[in-house]
Amino acid sequence: MEGASRDELAGRQLERLKWSLKLAYENVPHYRAKFDAIEAHPDDLRQLSDLARFPFTTKDDLRQGYPFGMFAVPRDQVVRVHASSGTTGKPTVVGYTQQDVETWAGLIARCIRAAGGRRGDIVHVAFGYGLFTGGLGAHYGAEKLGCTVIPISGGQTERQVKLIADFKPDIIMATPSYTLVLGEEMRRQGMDPRQCPLRIGMHGAEPWSEAMRQEIEQTFDMRAVDLYGLSEIIGPGVASECADGGPGLTLWEDHFYPEIIDPKTGQVLPDGEFGELVLTSLTKQAMPMVRYRTRDLTRLLPPVGRPMRRIERISGRSDDMLIVHGVNVFPSQIEELILADKRLSPHYVLELRRKGHLDALEVVVERRNIADATGDPARDLAHHVKSMIGISVNVRIVEDGSIERSLGKAKRVLDFRPKD
Ligand code: DLL
Repeated sequence: MEGASRDELAGRQLERLKWSLKLAYENVPHYRAKFDAIEAHPDDLRQLSDLARFPFTTKDDLRQGYPFGMFAVPRDQVVRVHASSGTTGKPTVVGYTQQDVETWAGLIARCIRAAGGRRGDIVHVAFGYGLFTGGLGAHYGAEKLGCTVIPISGGQTERQVKLIADFKPDIIMATPSYTLVLGEEMRRQGMDPRQCPLRIGMHGAEPWSEAMRQEIEQTFDMRAVDLYGLSEIIGPGVASECADGGPGLTLWEDHFYPEIIDPKTGQVLPDGEFGELVLTSLTKQAMPMVRYRTRDLTRLLPPVGRPMRRIERISGRSDDMLIVHGVNVFPSQIEELILADKRLSPHYVLELRRKGHLDALEVVVERRNIADATGDPARDLAHHVKSMIGISVNVRIVEDGSIERSLGKAKRVLDFRPKD
């Protein structure tokens, strides 16, 4: 479908959407009850925009069906499960048929190819293997493309660096924060990350800023591309940046139908407007997802080259948005300002505390080990946060290496406020 016209793609989407809604309605009691409650029937879908009549699905729906209640096929046809731990409550469990595993591998292969990877490349997979979808998702896709996969997973950082030096991979797939940890370890071992053979970094699973991309590209002298996905929809491989340029990440619309909604009202917004991404699976067999509310905030951009629309880099999750003195702030906005100052490192955490009736935000960031650091970076950063974002923060500069490094998704916000 990458070479199809927009009309051909829309035709295919409609056909697949009808199939997917029917599969969900006829096989998952949870969907049937929700559809019936608002008198929505799969036959009501005559055009793509009719999807707006159907109910949303949320993480809570998956939790209610824990563990296998959302499956649309008998359990013995499910060849794989993954699960996300989540910060509260039960984990959410997702399942795949053999065909789903194939589809997923095909999508990741597409992402790697679109990023400039080719058959025969060596791919170092440092996403975690296990219930998290990152490792195995990347693994099957890279194999499908015909690459040589190094399934190292996250952690054992010292050893990873030795293996990178010995095996000379062309591509690394890892969270952006862990990629920087590998860069640090290379330097510690006396290697120059710019001399390592990595050509392409495919990064995702956590929000990251444009400044972080530049940091990674300069550290490793490689192209760093954005890879997006979520377990409920399939895992990594829902959208990815392409080497042929153009803004944003191509959303693989032949398998996932995107909508952008106003998170407060649930109304579908026109393309180009900023809001919450809602995704409906078009081909998934084991666990069809109807209008899943991702909580990820972005906008839809027009297609470039391929018929599929694009999404802008995810600016954050609605549940990660901090509200400080009434101002909405995403950690990535503060990250941009930190990285604009060469005296500061990309390792930081945001600490939230309650002071009286007000929330207070402290930015804890490491000093970068550079020779010509002068002035007061803490005062300068506080000033930039005030003038660019509009909030007063306290900045605490700590020594290089004192903030805990993550092996997977970085935890950027530490909330010390009393639970109400
Ligand atoms: O993080 C799947 C994945 C693995 C994506 C490897 C990319 C690479 P979950 O653990 O279910 O799945 O978390 C999904 O992570 O809703 C976003 O909030 C966030 N996220 C994932 N990719 C990106 C990205 C995997 N490229 C949640 N940019 C999503 C920003 C991302 N946020």
